[in-house]
Order: sequence, then C-alpha cells, then structure tokens
Amino acid sequence: MQSSTAEQCVKVSLAERSYDIVIKAGLLHEVGGRLRGLGGSGRVAVVTNPVVGRLYGKAVRHSLKAAGYRVTMILVPDGERAKTLRWTSAILDVLARERFERGSFVVALGGGVVGDLAGFAAALFARGIPFVQMPTTLVSQVDSSVGGKTGVNHAVGKNLIGAFHQPRLVLIDPATLGTLPKREWVAGLAEVIKYGMIEDAEFFAYLERHMHDLLAMEPGRVAHIVTRSCQIKASVVMEDERESDRRRILNYGHTVGHALESLGGYRKLVHGEAVAIGMVQEASLARHLGLCSQAVAARQRSLVRAAGLPDVLPVTRFSELWTAMQHDKKMAGGRLHCVLPEQVGRVTIVPLERSVVKEWFASVGHAARS
Ligand code: NAD
Ligand code: GLY
Repeated sequence: MQSSTAEQCVKVSLAERSYDIVIKAGLLHEVGGRLRGLGGSGRVAVVTNPVVGRLYGKAVRHSLKAAGYRVTMILVPDGERAKTLRWTSAILDVLARERFERGSFVVALGGGVVGDLAGFAAALFARGIPFVQMPTTLVSQVDSSVGGKTGVNHAVGKNLIGAFHQPRLVLIDPATLGTLPKREWVAGLAEVIKYGMIEDAEFFAYLERHMHDLLAMEPGRVAHIVTRSCQIKASVVMEDERESDRRRILNYGHTVGHALESLGGYRKLVHGEAVAIGMVQEASLARHLGLCSQAVAARQRSLVRAAGLPDVLPVTRFSELWTAMQHDKKMAGGRLHCVLPEQVGRVTIVPLERSVVKEWFASVGHAARS
C-alpha cells in the first residue's frame, strides 16, 4: 500500500484516563519520540507475535532504543490461542523477573489478540502499568485498540476474563495494513460497516460508494475509514466507558457473531467474518420483529457481500445456535440482550426470548438464512 503522511489525531476524553489516537503512515518509526512525550522510567516491553515481530519488530525496537529506552521483546504465539491466562502469566513472569515498575511501559504491537492480551497483562502488573497500543490489523485499528477492553478467553466463553484498562496512547500506522493477508483486511471491513449501521448513515453511504477503492486499499480512503471509525468508537466510549448502557451498541453483530466463533472453535471464522454474518442475521431477526424494513436489511446485506464478507448462517440446528448465544457476556438478569437495527445509522437494544428467536429461525427457513 502506498503511504499518505498527513497526521490525524482523535482525542478520547476520559478525565485522568484521557489519551490520543494518532493516525499517520510511517508512525511505526516514531514510537520512541512519541513515548518520550508521555514520560516513563525508561523500560519498555514490546509484546508481539512472530508474524508481526518479523515485519515490524526491528523498526519499533530501533525507534525506542534511539529515544533512550531499554527494550524487552516478548513473543507470544500467533492467533487466538495466545489469548489465555497461561500467556498472560508468561508476560507477567518476564515483567517481574526484569523488575519492571509502575513507570515502565508495555507496548502492544500487533492485531486485536496481542492488544487484548498485552493490555490485560499491563492491567494486572503492579496493579496497572501504562500501555500503548500499536495496532497492525484493520480490526485492531478501528476497534480493539480503542476503549480499554482487555482480556483473554476461557473455555466457557470468549473474552470472559478481563479488565478495563485504557491505553495511554494509540499509535496507528495504516501503512502496516499493506502486509495484511486479504482475508484479514476484508474481515476488518465488517467492523467498519458496523460503525455505519450503528451510528452514521452518511459513513455507510460512503462505504457503499467507495467499496471498490477500499478493496484495492487506496491509501486516502483507508485513512478516512480508520479515522472516522476511531471517531465514532471514541465518542461512544467517552459517553459510556464501562458499557453500562450506550457502549453496548458496539456489540452489534456480536451476539450471533460470538456464538458462531465459539461453535467453530475459533478456527473456522475469523472475528470480522463472524461479525459480518452476525449483522446480516441480526438484521433479518430485526425485520422479523418489525424493527426494521426489508430495504434496510437488504442494503446492509449488499454492502457485506460487496466487501466479500460471508453472510450465510453456518448452523442448521436452532438449539445449537441458541445455546452458544447464551454464553455471550451481554446477558442481563439471566436474559439475553441483542443490538438490532432500526435504520441504517440507528440501532436499538432489545431482550430476546427463546421462543421468538426460534420462530424467526423456523420462519426464514434455510433458503433465507443462506
Ligand atoms: P489477530 O490479532 O489474530 O490478527 C490477525 C492475523 O493477522 C494474525 O495472524 C496476525 O499475526 C496477523 N497480522 C497482524 N498484523 C499484521 C500485519 N500488519 N501484516 C501481516 N499480518 C498481520 O486478529 P484481529 O482481527 O486483529 O483481532 C481479533 C481479536 O481482537 C479477537 O480476539 C477479538 O476478540 C479481539 N477484539 C477485541 C476488541 C476490544 O474492544 N478489545 C474489539 C474487537 C476485537
Ligand atoms: N468492541 C466492543 C467494545 O469495545 O465495546
């Protein structure tokens, strides 16, 4: 991907936990200087995986060293299997053995897996040390690096063990997306479409108009969708940091999406693909409940398909899907709550009864779900 060097800054205002999201091609090489602006004791642990480490580890390490930091590189395995308590503990072991202190930094260099895991270790060590997100996938640049949700998976449910721990800084270098496998790039577009659906009809229309350029990773368009997505995410998080109410809208597509990820053992679908199917199927459910029109559901499905994302529910037994949906963290008082669309740019949160969802599942039939 060619680079565009204009710098954008999105502010996340959360009193003493406020921070900047800086977006600029080539930022990877400036991490040392940017960290200096935050102070700190001179010790930095860079958590990454072998794939991202090979591509960008050296540049990040070089920049940090040039700014006077003592750097420890910590490698965790690639993929979702690293999001465990075991790997959290492995990171904590290194921080403890190397005598990291409250003023030391953790830098998460990688996708959402590395960000969630490294952020969680930073939240736990010495009751919380500062960390910086350097997201390198589209999912992590538009979603997971912002908002302070950190954590790991448990056999019973995804992201079940975690903590809110806001980063001190988010450094987004869109040029790193150039090495992303096509499948991961497309998966990230699901989270971008989500922002249009939950909050911004104009942005949704922009995605419809420019999907062709986005699939070709045209740098100006990429910078725009990353910036706009971060603005929307930041505004939601600023209103409801701890997800007591409004932040729940960010989970659109995730009730069905998380269920599909867990049914596939976190191997069959990547996160964004599961969210894409989730959004299409949840819009179908919203249509069944009379919450949105057929036109809204069809428009969203067209954009999902134009992005090359999957939209078919890979489940034929209702009980299997319903059971997996129960493990979603968004249960409240024993009831499952789901974010459903009303219009493009507007969603609502409704409690779901088993009987109603079963009726939808039967009524749409296999043909409509596929
Ligand atoms: P990921 O971190 O597994 O990265 C996807 C793949 O791309 C990995 O193989 C990775 O090594 C590789 N990769 C990363 N950057 C690359 C680059 N620049 N070039 C080449 N390869 C690169 O997956 P993801 O989609 O980034 O994140 C998914 C995770 O994020 C899930 O665990 C999900 O639960 C979590 N998540 C968290 C939040 C949150 O708010 N904390 C939000 C959304 C998703
Ligand atoms: N990705 C959902 C959230 O950050 O709340």
